[in-house]
Order: sequence, then C-alpha cells, then structure tokens
Amino acid sequence: MSIRPLIAGNWKMNLATADAVSLTGRLAEHMNTPRNYDMLVCPPHVLIGKVAETAGKGSLMVGGQDCHANVSGAHTGDVAAEMLKDQGCGAVIVGHSERRTDHGESDATVKAKAEAALRAGLTAIVCVGETESERDEGIEQKIVGGQVAGSLPDGATSENTVIAYEPVWAIGTGKTPTVDDVRVMHDFIRNQLTDLMSDGAKVRILYGGSVKPGNAAELLGVEHVNGALVGGASLKAEDFIGIAEAS
Ligand code: PGA
Repeated sequence: MSIRPLIAGNWKMNLATADAVSLTGRLAEHMNTPRNYDMLVCPPHVLIGKVAETAGKGSLMVGGQDCHANVSGAHTGDVAAEMLKDQGCGAVIVGHSERRTDHGESDATVKAKAEAALRAGLTAIVCVGETESERDEGIEQKIVGGQVAGSLPDGATSENTVIAYEPVWAIGTGKTPTVDDVRVMHDFIRNQLTDLMSDGAKVRILYGGSVKPGNAAELLGVEHVNGALVGGASLKAEDFIGIAEAS
C-alpha cells in the first residue's frame, strides 16, 4: 500500500523570529510546487503565530511540539491544543522522549495529550522509542510496544494519528540504527497498529533520530517507514528539503 510520506521538522528550543521567518519562507516556497510528500514544521510555541503567517495558505503545515490535555485553566506555562489550532497549527507532537524525560511524561499523560489534539482537530504525532540500555538488553520491542499501546489516543485513525519511532540513543547523536533494525521495528509497529486499529495499515509511521540528507534515502526506503521526524537537520532549509526529496 502506498502511503504519502510526512516529513516533519522538530525545531525544539531553537531559532528566533528572523531566522524562523526566513526558513519558513523558503520551505513554503518549495511546497508551492506539488510534491509527493507532506511537509510540517514544529517551531517553539512563541514562534507559531509568525511561522503560520509566513507559511500562509500553502501546503507547508505548521505544528506544535507539545500541548496540555485540558482546553483551558490554571496551568501556568502550558498551551492547549485548541490554542495551537487557533494559531494555525494542523498537528502537534506529543510524547517526544525529551518531554518524557525532562517532564516525566508517562504513557497516560501522552495519551491524554494526544486525545486533546484529536479533540482540537489536530493530527497527533505520538513519539515512541527505546533507550540504548533497553536495546542492549534486547527489550526494545517490549518497550516500544508498551508505549504504543499506552499512548495511542482513543479515536485514533490513520487520518488523525501518526506514530514517530525515535530510538532515544539516536536523537541528536549522529548514530542511527541499521536499516535492518529499522525494518524490524517498523514492521513490529505496523503489526501492532493493524491489531489495535481498523485502519492501522494506513497509519504513517515516521522514523526519527539523526536523519540527515546523506542517510535519508536509505532510511526512508525501508518498508513501513512513511516519513521522518527531523530535529537538527530541519533547521537548515537545504538539509530539510534534501531529506524530503529523498522520500
Ligand atoms: P535529531 O532529532 O534529528 O536532531 O536527531 C530528532 C528528534 O528529536 O525529533
């Protein structure tokens, strides 16, 4: 089955207005020509309004990096999924390993956030991935399977939910799993999604962790890899476009 790839950029806590606007402008221009993939940028919350304005009504999509589970209320520093939608977002990343680690987010928290995304009409990009010691122990499928089962929102469909497999040890390190390891894990996740969801065969499963223009074709060519979640290399237009063009 052919699934349209999604190339998503996670800017993390990087860029200020001028650089964000110039990067967005270049990506939006690139996406003005019809492409055989979707492209999404996820800036820090404070830049979303400006980035969405720069992206305009074209096909470059904008997303958040996190959201709160509630619609509104006394949650200092948090942002609701509805607020992201209001600012022009079409998607939000939830459960990134940096959130799971830095903010102690459990699968239940991630699931609640993903359900908030669906409630607001956003696509939930649910991140999962094992640590290096978990892979060394050979329990990576147990860990990732548990995260998928525990974080998948109720009401998930292939239209509103994306899974991003990001081995924690590959994020920002320049290290990537072998193509065979990626194939085995994506195959495992695909099987799990088809068990859990009626249209699980169509859900996009992204790979993330040190994706660069030089390794993108290899990683994106693996069966059941339906796009990439890119950190560092999404901050440079030519690198991010190079990755997208390899899909
Ligand atoms: P990286 O980050 O591409 O810089 O490894 C990926 C991510 O954390 O989403």
